[in-house]
Amino acid sequence: MMRKLLVTSALPYANGPIHIGHLVEYLQTDIWVRFQKLMGNQCHYFCADDTHGTPVMIRARNEGITPETLIRRVHAEHYRDFTGFAIEFDNYYSTHSEENRQLSERIYQGALANGSIVKKAIQQAYDEQEKMWLPDRYIKGTCPRCKAEEQYGDSCDACGAHYQTTELINPVSTISGRPPVMKESTHYFFRLGQFESALKKLFADGYVQASVQNKLDEWFSEGLRDWDISRDGPYFGFKIPGEENKYFYVWLDAPIGYMASCKNYCDRKGLDFERVWNGGEYEICHFIGKDIMYFHALFWPALLFSANLRTPNKLFVHGFLTVNGQKMSKSKGTFIMAETYLKHLDPQYLRYYYASKLSGDVSDIDLNVEDFVNRVNADLVGKLANLASRSGPMLTDKLGGKLGALDKNGWTLLNELTAAKTEITAAYKSLNYAAAIRKIMALADVCNKYVEDNQPWSAIKTSPEGARTALTAILNAVKVLTVYLKPVLPAFAEKIERFLAVGPLTFADVETAMEHHTIGKFIRLIERIEKEKVDAMIEETKPQTAVPTQPQPEAQLDEPLAPECTIEDFMKVDLRVARISKAAPVAGADKLLALELDLGALKKNVFAGIAKAYKPEDLVGRLVVCVANLKPRQMKFGLSEGMVCASGPGGADVFLLSPDSGAKPGQRVH
Ligand code: MSP
Ligand code: ZN
Repeated sequence: MMRKLLVTSALPYANGPIHIGHLVEYLQTDIWVRFQKLMGNQCHYFCADDTHGTPVMIRARNEGITPETLIRRVHAEHYRDFTGFAIEFDNYYSTHSEENRQLSERIYQGALANGSIVKKAIQQAYDEQEKMWLPDRYIKGTCPRCKAEEQYGDSCDACGAHYQTTELINPVSTISGRPPVMKESTHYFFRLGQFESALKKLFADGYVQASVQNKLDEWFSEGLRDWDISRDGPYFGFKIPGEENKYFYVWLDAPIGYMASCKNYCDRKGLDFERVWNGGEYEICHFIGKDIMYFHALFWPALLFSANLRTPNKLFVHGFLTVNGQKMSKSKGTFIMAETYLKHLDPQYLRYYYASKLSGDVSDIDLNVEDFVNRVNADLVGKLANLASRSGPMLTDKLGGKLGALDKNGWTLLNELTAAKTEITAAYKSLNYAAAIRKIMALADVCNKYVEDNQPWSAIKTSPEGARTALTAILNAVKVLTVYLKPVLPAFAEKIERFLAVGPLTFADVETAMEHHTIGKFIRLIERIEKEKVDAMIEETKPQTAVPTQPQPEAQLDEPLAPECTIEDFMKVDLRVARISKAAPVAGADKLLALELDLGALKKNVFAGIAKAYKPEDLVGRLVVCVANLKPRQMKFGLSEGMVCASGPGGADVFLLSPDSGAKPGQRVH
């Protein structure tokens, strides 16, 4: 019976690029969707950029562009990266869309009518200078427990403590550098607790995998608390109907973005969205990572219940990516962007490697670089491509490219391959791609053994027809293996289809044998991975900072000392502590950053030649030393009203001088 499926992956945030961690999810989903389509099921794959929230707003501001411009650019980058990895969406949309606004309002109104929303006054941190409310992540201070400095408003990286923002010692806004004040504001809360039994029923009906059920039990026993779904402006998001300066919290409209992407698709294709999404004819399946389970297991279905809409059927949760057994790390060069990967390596390697690791549970998966290289070379090149390259050219060159008939041995081989179809399709269906790959590679071993046993290269000298018979079996085997791998390796499959001169293969083609069929020309199928390319990719990912070298006792200073000056001379230079309040690239000057320096009572705009060494977003909030009484200088790009102090020869080797965190903007440096 044909299944009808609507499938989604989590919507990636529009404030950053796609990296190989994200790809675990998009590849897991893409493989499943391709599998379903190749099984003849009707399946639509929807995704979108998650565009709203404070980080997008701040980032746009730092770059000196509107959030709309930022999200348009990032949308194109995300889509380019996904396409580069052969991730094929039926629609890749945006949460900043009219469809999403309407659906969000509709669900909100539904929840309101259902009595599921209450207003409550709460105390929240506010930045008086920037005139904005501060999410926890935008407040830093000293940890109340271990006294580590520069810790976030909700938790401490040093000791792992969780606390309220109000408990932080010397809290400052990372945006203005000023201490936040606590202010009262009225927020809208969604009464999650109303849906406890409806949610429990959903789980009893199999909404989540068994391996995440424990986590849910934990959450239920902690009690379901009201959820704050509003944010005060300035905020990049949808306005709450009837409010002037309140917006939906990004996590309210984000999952509704799944529906909006589907609606946009239906409208373009002339399909009835209400029927497709809400009609019950389709199964809805969400793929997500374990970090966003609370939102998808509890909030999302509860919101749908409250608005009387149908709930999804399946939530597939995967674990996190580690590289060489550790968290992805910028300094180790393992925080690899999709874009960087594609500059160096064939995307099929990663598709194959992740598939061989994913088994459908929530455990983390590890990309071990050495194992990655070995496995791809051993399996894809050694076992699979070899099978085709040892048989195809021989048939084309010596036997006119024409297959013969299968003999008894050939059928025995082929029957063993086709008999595995049930096992392999069951593995794909249950997301146990690792099991599917294991089985397929075991079959490839059987085929290679068949080649060794039959030695077509020597048979061809004595009995060309005998060789033709053996090659017929081998190329039929190649075809079946290709079908089995097609969800994982679409580009490889497409090459085999051209080479074997067969139409686009599906799982239905497993049982049809090719006999007396003329094949096409052999095409190079896949290259070996070279370890050097992997190393180069990792090198490129590492931050481009100079390695500090120990000064040699006999070494000379790079620059000789300047002539002596008096204390009076020195005092003419007014050095001040400043906090970088804004940082943005300068169009047309790739070495410069435009900085706004906050000196407490005054602000200064400065152009600094540090763009090769620092990213603007990393600078905001940072303390520096500036020459505050430098005569302003008119530059091509604007007026520069001072200078920031830094050492180093220039280019990427620039090191800003930073006062310790107790220093206050405006203080004089003596
Ligand atoms: N915008 C939210 C999702 C909203 S869905 C209505 C979000 N975005 S994200 O960009 O941070 O992550 C997108 C998906 O990628 C999430 O499912 C997340 O779990 C997954 N991953 C992000 N980093 C990951 C790893 N390092 N490893 C595996 N998956 C990871 O969350
Ligand atoms: Zn601490």
